[in-house]
Amino acid sequence: MIDETLTMIPGPTPVHPRILDALSRPTVSHVAPAFVEDFRSALRDFRTLCRSTSGQPFIVAGAGTLAMEMALVNVVAPGEKILVISHGYFGDRFAELAAAFGIECDLLRSNWGEAVAPADVAKRLDSGSYAAVTITHVDTSTGTASPVEAYCDLLRGRDELVILDGVCATAGIDERFDEWGIDVLLTGPQKAIGAPPGVALCLFSDRALERRRSRSSVPAYYADVLRWLPIMQDPGRYYSTPCVNEIVALATALRMVHEEGLPARFARHAAIARAVRAGLEAAGLTLFTAPGCRADTLSVVLLPSEVADIAFRKEVAARGVVLAGGLGPIAGKAFRLGHMGNIGAGEVAKSLDAIEASLRALGVAVEAGAAVAAAAPFLPR
Ligand SMILES: Cc1ncc(COP(=O)(O)O)c(C=O)c1O
Repeated sequence: MIDETLTMIPGPTPVHPRILDALSRPTVSHVAPAFVEDFRSALRDFRTLCRSTSGQPFIVAGAGTLAMEMALVNVVAPGEKILVISHGYFGDRFAELAAAFGIECDLLRSNWGEAVAPADVAKRLDSGSYAAVTITHVDTSTGTASPVEAYCDLLRGRDELVILDGVCATAGIDERFDEWGIDVLLTGPQKAIGAPPGVALCLFSDRALERRRSRSSVPAYYADVLRWLPIMQDPGRYYSTPCVNEIVALATALRMVHEEGLPARFARHAAIARAVRAGLEAAGLTLFTAPGCRADTLSVVLLPSEVADIAFRKEVAARGVVLAGGLGPIAGKAFRLGHMGNIGAGEVAKSLDAIEASLRALGVAVEAGAAVAAAAPFLPR
């Protein structure tokens, strides 16, 4: 039986039938010419998606966390220090990774749901220097979108490498690798790109690759970009078996991103985010994330105090929509609704409808149809 549940968590996101079709093609040799061509096109399309002409892409079997590890261990040596700008659970993960590799770390944290002011970053940079600075574009735990460009302006002309975690942003929110001076952009396929999970993606600048080359070794084997470089330049070569089916699916997903066109795709994400927020507020709900820094890719939403999280999400699931729970300090008090990747008006309307009906089932007074009616004017056609 096909599961027709709508997965509206902040990743994995619903996978379009065309991408699923690519995923289910017969598994072929990792050196088969057709596969090598797909691999090459995925690498090329990923770089274009990041608005880069010179970055070196890497796509390896793994997950976003492996991409974070690749970004860090190849450019920062044990004993060196990084500045981590954190807006929640996934920003903090960089500090945990640093600790695991003997890298020192200054952690600059915002209050949950707010963004670190660029002036606070400037103060840290005035009082010291770092091997690298990490930025999480959208922290999936808090729904906070970072002012990446403003941080990058502060870092221009300095020696710190800029590492950007785009896992919950890439292909949903613009990321200008060359223009902003990013050194490593890391991301995953399972969110705004709309492909199934299974690969780690990184884009390295010349400066980042030089940093790696300047070290005789790094504390990694599989995650060492220099071992992968010959394969990324000629995907017909072997280092470690690529996940053939996932890469074919990713190549199709990236092709679809470019068929839609980047400006149109980012505009669609912005329109959907606006519609979702209007709908949630019309249902009487409160957004957790502060107004100036709400991401276009997900919404983090506070539950009314009388509504129990598990009971609420069970009601929503009974209506065919899966939501994610809150993390950290908002666990049990909030839910997270992903609205990224290859979704449109239909998915948004179904989700808002399920949320509204579930609130009513749990005794909250919400007028039937209010959420969808408030969202409708902003939804893409
Ligand atoms: C912003 C961000 N960074 C990193 C990760 C880690 O990715 P993965 O779960 O694929 O290891 C996630 C996962 O949700 C994320 O949202």
